[in-house]
Amino acid sequence: MELEKLTAHGGDPATDQASGTRKVFIKTYGCQMNVYDSQRMTDALAADGYVGTETMEEADLVLLNTCHIREKAAEKVYSELGRIRGLKAERGRRGLETIVGVAGCVAQAEGQEIMRREGAVDLVIGPQTYHKLPDALRRVRDGEKIVETTYAIEDKFEHLPAPRRAEIVSRGVTAFLTVQEGCDKFCTFCVVPYTRGSEVSRPVSQILAEAERLADSGVREVTLLGQNVNAWHGLGPDGTEWGLGRLLFALADIPGLSRLRYTTSHPRDMDDALIAAHRDLPALMPYLHLPVQSGSDRVLKAMNRRHTADDYLRLIDRIRTARNDIAMSGDFIVGFPGESESDFEATMQLVRTVGYAQAFSFKYSPRPGTPGAEMDGHVAEAVKDERLQRLQALLLEQQRDFTARLVGTTMNALIEKPGRKPGQRVGRSPWLQPVIVDETAGEIGDIVSVRIINAGQSSLFAVPA
Ligand code: SAH
Ligand code: SF4
Ligand code: F3S
Repeated sequence: MELEKLTAHGGDPATDQASGTRKVFIKTYGCQMNVYDSQRMTDALAADGYVGTETMEEADLVLLNTCHIREKAAEKVYSELGRIRGLKAERGRRGLETIVGVAGCVAQAEGQEIMRREGAVDLVIGPQTYHKLPDALRRVRDGEKIVETTYAIEDKFEHLPAPRRAEIVSRGVTAFLTVQEGCDKFCTFCVVPYTRGSEVSRPVSQILAEAERLADSGVREVTLLGQNVNAWHGLGPDGTEWGLGRLLFALADIPGLSRLRYTTSHPRDMDDALIAAHRDLPALMPYLHLPVQSGSDRVLKAMNRRHTADDYLRLIDRIRTARNDIAMSGDFIVGFPGESESDFEATMQLVRTVGYAQAFSFKYSPRPGTPGAEMDGHVAEAVKDERLQRLQALLLEQQRDFTARLVGTTMNALIEKPGRKPGQRVGRSPWLQPVIVDETAGEIGDIVSVRIINAGQSSLFAVPA
């Protein structure tokens, strides 16, 4: 989170600590939407005179951008806050003030409770209210403790300052762009509808303007983000209603933007136009993250996914017919209440049928306030562990096979950053794997043709083709 050096404007001498500039440290947990939000908060704070730091000890403002999806994720936040309490006290002894803020999904879910549990926290701010951050900080400096978790009626993105060129450049040649937030699906295991609110799509003009800005600053690959990104819709400049497929075509027209991706999709929102975009739009990368959670219809029903395993398999057939080299990725939950050995076996069978290039799998974690937590038939932890191991072994084997099959092929790689060893660069394959090449292959930002000569579990080793 490198920021260009800025001088605080507005002249607020009381807050000019030691060096004269305020420093912010943001730690991000959870999904890519939090990564994007942290960047936008950094942008908002830069406009307010804050400079980013990678060292928590020297920060005047420590922000945790948190995740509530599983119990462990939420617990990590509290243990980190304990550590920060010590740090704040230590800085206090040196006469330095430290503001501690909790943002993200734990902030939204627990609100006031966070301050009750951890007295060091000055500010709790939910994901829909980040545009109010500079104002909230001013109030904190005036001695208030603030909990700001109302779902804002106004669009936060309209009020957050646009990312600046220097910041975009420092973040590299790939970028995230949130186009949709929230969820109306209410899967019975999931907190997202409660922490992020209902589905909202950002307007077309706002998205295109931001994408143009990214491209102008050297970004070559953009990943559109949303909790249900393929539920995105908006009114196009032509007066018709656009879906994500149409939006992708408009984005592909922006000079410099050569690669597009989107995540996370819901199977129920994969419409024909989006599938057709996978067939007709070369800029759309052949990779699709399409979570299914379970292969058992009984479990899918209890999860309120509102699709069957067969619906999902037929959908994948249609997608593969449109684009036969597409790599599939997914999310799985094992040990949802009531999951029997044969339900779990149905999940294994679905995985064998689909063949994933990559996937995430989790043990079911009961979340307060969700219907799943109240259901009968909770599965023993040891059984969850054992099922997770079996599933992950299968998924890892599929990932290794997928990577190995690419050896000997030629593909385009986007050169992204310097490699770990001198003389190396790391690129990105169309299927999202890191590609290790010699620096003579191309400059950062170049899209170059490479031949794959070797493969690891998930990375590829290549030479210029
Ligand atoms: N909107 C996305 C998922 C967002 S959450 C979708 O519908 O697919 C990311 C992943 O976390 C989910 O796909 C699910 O696999 C996992 N997850 C969500 N809640 C969980 C819980 N209570 N326990 C375990 N895993 C969970
Ligand atoms: Fe959660 Fe389901 Fe919404 Fe995805 S679709 S965010 S899993 S409730
Ligand atoms: Fe976590 Fe919130 Fe993302 S709960 S996964 S940070 S939407």
